[in-house]
Amino acid sequence: MEIRNWIFALILCHAALVLTSCAVELARSPPTERISGSAGDVLEDDPVGRLKVFVYELPSKYNKKILQKDQRCLNHMFAAEIYMHRFLLSSPVRTLNPAEADWFYTPVYTTCDLTPNGLPLPFKSPRMMRSAIQLISSNWPYWNRTEGADHFFVVPHDFGACFHYQEEKAIERGILTMLRRATLVQTFGQRNHVCLKEGSITVPPYAPPQKMQSHLIPERTPRAIFVYFRGLFYDVGNDPEGGYYARGARAAVWENFKDNPLFDISTEHPTTYYEDMQRAVFCLCPLGWAPWSPRLVEAVVFGCIPVIIADDIVLPFADAIPWEEIGVFVDEKDVPNLDTILTSIPPEIILRKQRLLANPSMKQAMLFPQPAQPGDAFHQVLNGLARKLPHDKSIYLAPGEKVLNWTAGPLGDLKPW
Ligand SMILES: *[C@@H]1O[C@H](CO)[C@@H](O)[C@H](O)[C@H]1NC(C)=O
Ligand SMILES: *[C@@H]1O[C@H](CO)[C@@H](O)[C@H](O)[C@H]1NC(C)=O
Repeated sequence: MEIRNWIFALILCHAALVLTSCAVELARSPPTERISGSAGDVLEDDPVGRLKVFVYELPSKYNKKILQKDQRCLNHMFAAEIYMHRFLLSSPVRTLNPAEADWFYTPVYTTCDLTPNGLPLPFKSPRMMRSAIQLISSNWPYWNRTEGADHFFVVPHDFGACFHYQEEKAIERGILTMLRRATLVQTFGQRNHVCLKEGSITVPPYAPPQKMQSHLIPERTPRAIFVYFRGLFYDVGNDPEGGYYARGARAAVWENFKDNPLFDISTEHPTTYYEDMQRAVFCLCPLGWAPWSPRLVEAVVFGCIPVIIADDIVLPFADAIPWEEIGVFVDEKDVPNLDTILTSIPPEIILRKQRLLANPSMKQAMLFPQPAQPGDAFHQVLNGLARKLPHDKSIYLAPGEKVLNWTAGPLGDLKPW
């Protein structure tokens, strides 16, 4: 594509005169580009041989039985906790000999308790988690050796191991005491927040890979939409003013751009949603306080440049995915200028971001496919764990030594599960 035509089209966009013709010129699917050096290459690391994971065998009431009660848990955006378990069971990094393990994994499905509408309720999670830890700590010697410092847990709930969906309550609770030395694999990622502890591994939410694959359109389809977004702007039930939900960023998008022809935004979820993303140049990701919206995954998979509106966010696998290079970051306070910000990005920068997004390893890292594939999100979690090895000697406690307060936390959490 000729840059000159493109700029001409962009000027039309600016004037918002002939929307379709302008956007047609914008960005057809470009060839792929790799980032050489650490960022691009880390994604392709093979974790096999770099770590060994021991999977505790727990009674099925902690995992399989819970899933049997509600199969919807397999398609939920927090389903990674289930798929990670299945993946590890047949992974070559699994060891059946705990004496040689670098990491210990406890398969407990704490988010598989859904309301009739499919929203996870975390109220039982702390008791369930405590119960699982009590079990492993009395049946095996490994927990007490480090009080969890060589253990990892998948806690994909809204505020991770704070186990509450309201931020205020989550902050008040803090990370469940028993998990404070463990490595947490979670979707929640917000810098300087009590629910994100140092050393956690931020992962993408689960988005159904087969379903997304089945909506792929020909690669060279023009991207005729400039900015695309589908989703809620206001959480009417809980927050009619729109100040809290997504910290007001979504409400600001709607108020400023609902009538702007460059912005294809709506609350209606069309059947062509996935196809539309493949026809868009920019996809808005107003993520509020968490990267757990599947929107980010969808944007990357469909090669639509993610416009990330979420101050202080920690994005999935940020030590391996060059988010600054593939996405556009807009401060929450700058949402009213989104149109100017996006139309001022030089075409060559847009094209470069598109080439980087076209790189299959970026897409792969965002997905939890069945069966697993090299470089997918499962492998990125393992890479993240492998990069933390060897463990520092200081994690091992003296016999009988206790650092965590095993009875801390709200009284309700101490009840047996
Ligand atoms: C680990 O410590 C807990 C709490 O002190 C204790 O109840 C448990 O028996 C210990 N586990 C082992 C295997 O000794
Ligand atoms: C542990 O926490 C409980 C509840 O907050 C508290 O009563 C107790 O004194 C604490 N124990 C230690 C050893 O700090």
